[in-house]
Amino acid sequence: MAVVSDAQNSAECPDRVLLDLWHPIGATTELPSRRQWSDQLLGVGLQVERIADGGFRVSRQDDAEVELPVRERFGYLWTSLGEPRELFDIPEAEESGRRLLHAGSIMVHTSAGCGMENFLDMGHFPFVHPGVLEDETRTEVKDYTVTSSVADHEIWDTECVFYQPQAAMDSTGGAEVNYAYRVMHPNGAALFKSNSQQPDRFDTVALFIQPLDEEHIRAHM
Ligand SMILES: [Fe+2]
Repeated sequence: MAVVSDAQNSAECPDRVLLDLWHPIGATTELPSRRQWSDQLLGVGLQVERIADGGFRVSRQDDAEVELPVRERFGYLWTSLGEPRELFDIPEAEESGRRLLHAGSIMVHTSAGCGMENFLDMGHFPFVHPGVLEDETRTEVKDYTVTSSVADHEIWDTECVFYQPQAAMDSTGGAEVNYAYRVMHPNGAALFKSNSQQPDRFDTVALFIQPLDEEHIRAHM
């Protein structure tokens, strides 16, 4: 598993809030099959180990005695360098009749904040995804609604609309597509998108960002 070894970029994160969050460290179906491997989170080297009962043990490389908390949720392995409260829910992930797919884990030379900004910014569609999500003649981001809930630690963008020439693999023509975004973690968000087959429920795409250090992430989709 690729990790960042550049010491200059691997200073340990001092932010208590980030340290106390759950962070994803890979899709359980894609994790290495060998018994142990190294990974990185917030500038800290991790040792990940498969244990006898089929689960995982995660520890710091600089202190292998200290076992870090682990969770397996939404098809991913999560850990924390601090004392996390319970991980958020994604009710759609529990609904019957849905397929959960791991689309990929991609290492990107950027910060977690920039990765999140890209995911939430519809304005990039026409320029980065021409022909599929938009075309360069239709670049308008129409007004949408932003609400936040301190109690739920969440931000929602709703009533987002974008014209798309091919909104889905089965689309035969362009259509206005309705979106909503849910930000349920500083480095994690879900996008809800209408689909032509089941108008009463939305396709759900989640982005879970693993901050390797301040300038490198692994984006799990
Ligand atoms: Fe994009």
